Amino acid sequence: MTQSVGTSALPLLALRGVSRNFGSLRAVDGVDLDIMAGRISGLIGPNGAGKTTLFNLIAGTLAPSAGEIRFEGRRMNGLSPDRVFHQGLARTFQVPRPFAQMTVLENLMLAAERQAGERFWNNWIRPGLVREEERAVRERAFAVLEVCALADKAPNLAAELSGGQQKLLELARVLMIEPSLILLDEPAAGVNPALLETLVDRVQHLHRSGIAFLIIEHNMDLVMSVCDPVIVMMQGRVILSGSPDTVRTDPRVVDAYLGEVTT
Ligand SMILES: Nc1ncnc2c1ncn2[C@@H]1O[C@H](COP(=O)(O)OP(=O)(O)O)[C@@H](O)[C@H]1O
Ligand SMILES: [Mg+2]
Repeated sequence: MTQSVGTSALPLLALRGVSRNFGSLRAVDGVDLDIMAGRISGLIGPNGAGKTTLFNLIAGTLAPSAGEIRFEGRRMNGLSPDRVFHQGLARTFQVPRPFAQMTVLENLMLAAERQAGERFWNNWIRPGLVREEERAVRERAFAVLEVCALADKAPNLAAELSGGQQKLLELARVLMIEPSLILLDEPAAGVNPALLETLVDRVQHLHRSGIAFLIIEHNMDLVMSVCDPVIVMMQGRVILSGSPDTVRTDPRVVDAYLGEVTT
C-alpha cells in the first residue's frame, strides 16, 4: 500500500546529533532521526518536549547549535526557510499564518512564487514566459484547492475562513511547491470533527500519491490510527520510535505522556 514513492532504505530526511540551545536550556538535545519516504510519521511528546523547535530546525526557521540535517541527501543546515521550502520540504504552522487580507487563491499563488529577483528580470526580458508561468500556477492552485476541499473558497479572503478551513489552507499553500515531505504542526488543534475528518482524509490521499508526512499531534486517536512510525520526544530527546502498538504500550509513554493527556 505504501510502495508509491521509494520505500528504499535511504531516509528522505536524516538528522544526526541535532541540538538547539536557548541560553542554558537545551530544547533539542542530540537528536538522531530518519524519516522515510512513503510514511506518515507521528511526533508526540509532552508540552515543552522540543517538538516545535525540532520542526523549526528542520524548516530552517532556527539554526541548530550542533548537528547535521540532510534532506534527499543534501545538507540543509544554514539554508533560509524559503530555500528549504523550495527544495520540497514544507511545513505548516501550529497557528495558521495566512495573508488574511488576500484571497485564498492569492495566498496559494504567492506560495508558488520563485525568487523575487528572478521574476523581476523575467518580467523585463521574457514577459511572455511570466504570463505562461502565471497561468500554470493559477491552474495548479485550482487543482490544489480541489484536493483540499476549498475550491469554492478561492475568491474569499483568508480572514473569512474558519479555523479548520485555515488549516486546510495551510496544507493547500504548501502543496503549491509539490513537496516530497510535509511537516504538520498540530493539524487537529481547534478543528471541528467534520473538518478534521476531511483533513485526515486529504492527508491520507496525498500520502497515497507519494508525499511523506511528519505530524506533531496531541490527538492520540489520530496519531495511533494514521501514523507509523510514532516518534516520542521528551526533554529534547527522541526516547522511542516504533509502531503505534509498540509506543502505546511502552511504560514510559503511558506514565509520562498518555497518562497526562487523557486527564
Ligand atoms: N524562542 C525560544 N526562546 C527560548 N526558549 C524557547 C524558545 N522556543 C522554545 N523554547 C523552549 O524550548 C522548549 C521546547 O519548546 P517547544 O519546542 O515549543 O516544545 P513543544 O513543541 O514540544 O511543546 C520549551 O521549554 C520552550 O519554553
Ligand atoms: Mg509545539
